[in-house]
Amino acid sequence: MSRIDASKIVLASRPDGRPTQDNFRCESFTPPALSGGQLLLRIEYLSLDPYMRGRMNAGKSYAEPTPVGGVMEGSGVATVLQSEHPDYHQGDIVLARTGWRTHAVVETPGVRKLDATIAPVTTALGVLGMPGFTAYSGMKMIGKPRHGETVVVGAASGPVGSLVGQIAMRAGARAVGIAGGKEKCSFAKSTFGFDEVIDHRLPDLPDRLAAACPTGIDVYFENIGGAVWQAVLPLLNLYARVPVCGLIAQYNAVPTGDNAALLAQTMNTILARSLTLRGYINSEFAAELYPSFLAEVGAAVASGEIRYREDFIDGLENAPAGLIGLLEGKNFGKLIVRVNAR
Ligand SMILES: NC(=O)c1ccc[n+]([C@@H]2O[C@H](COP(=O)([O-])OP(=O)(O)OC[C@H]3O[C@@H](n4cnc5c(N)ncnc54)[C@H](OP(=O)(O)O)[C@@H]3O)[C@@H](O)[C@H]2O)c1
Repeated sequence: MSRIDASKIVLASRPDGRPTQDNFRCESFTPPALSGGQLLLRIEYLSLDPYMRGRMNAGKSYAEPTPVGGVMEGSGVATVLQSEHPDYHQGDIVLARTGWRTHAVVETPGVRKLDATIAPVTTALGVLGMPGFTAYSGMKMIGKPRHGETVVVGAASGPVGSLVGQIAMRAGARAVGIAGGKEKCSFAKSTFGFDEVIDHRLPDLPDRLAAACPTGIDVYFENIGGAVWQAVLPLLNLYARVPVCGLIAQYNAVPTGDNAALLAQTMNTILARSLTLRGYINSEFAAELYPSFLAEVGAAVASGEIRYREDFIDGLENAPAGLIGLLEGKNFGKLIVRVNAR
């Protein structure tokens, strides 16, 4: 195989609050020769996800931080260019943890072959991938929506929130979404079928949310934190369930230490309303639920019963701007970088 001129994006420095372009650096590299069992991949599509912001911080969260100078983490859909593994062949399309690169050499554990005849391969990064599984497993194991209940979820036009809403409605619950801006709100209502969608960027969110949930909230699928959590808290019903999935409003925030009153109100409500709040990382449920997720949601996506939206940007060099924008709501649907695919 002729020499490949590849590029990768590394963490140049750690952000203080909102990331900037200076926190990233693009570098050239030549992929190393393969050794036993490895694959050489050309990345076609790279997924951009909120968790990547956490990896840019120094402290350990549920995963180790990316070291300064290290390649930004991420999953990609890729073509196998060369294989030293008997189960993979040149031309196979796979899902792999590639990092932010144009090409990658990977070991095969964790690599999954994709079949483009079942669904577009990009869905393996969204509705039929990690974000979709996050929605499915959080609702199945923690949210447990029932007929007639009210389910509320933020980031309702994104891959997690849009599936949470559709799962709630399939269970016979009423789904109320929260999204930023008129266009996202009307799309979430018309395309995903939410009963109501509230714009969190307009004033009086608590009052408008209360009006949209006249019988209170039975399941709040927490994607946001911050002002949205404050609006939700007084509306939670007795025995409400709160899968704590993400806190995107807080990812760029610099702690101020002035939240004592909100913490007291939160603890009080947990006690008085017998709430169940349960944090989780989707991988916790993978062994138990991934096959049923792929079967159930895969069939519903194929039949058009479950809908999704993808948002593409072109070129690996634009991935930093994509991630910075995602943390501010600039994406509209599952954010994917076309790296080599055009
Ligand atoms: N626990 C897990 O295993 C796991 C796995 C995957 C994802 N997650 C979490 O799930 C959540 C959604 O992820 P996703 O991939 O579906 O993201 P996404 O919807 O594609 O993108 C994030 C969205 O968050 C919204 N947002 C950003 N800042 C906000 C703020 N201050 N207030 C309200 N909304 C804000 C924006 O939408 P609007 O313009 O509509 O506000 C933005 O488009 C995130 O919190 C993520 O960290 C958790």
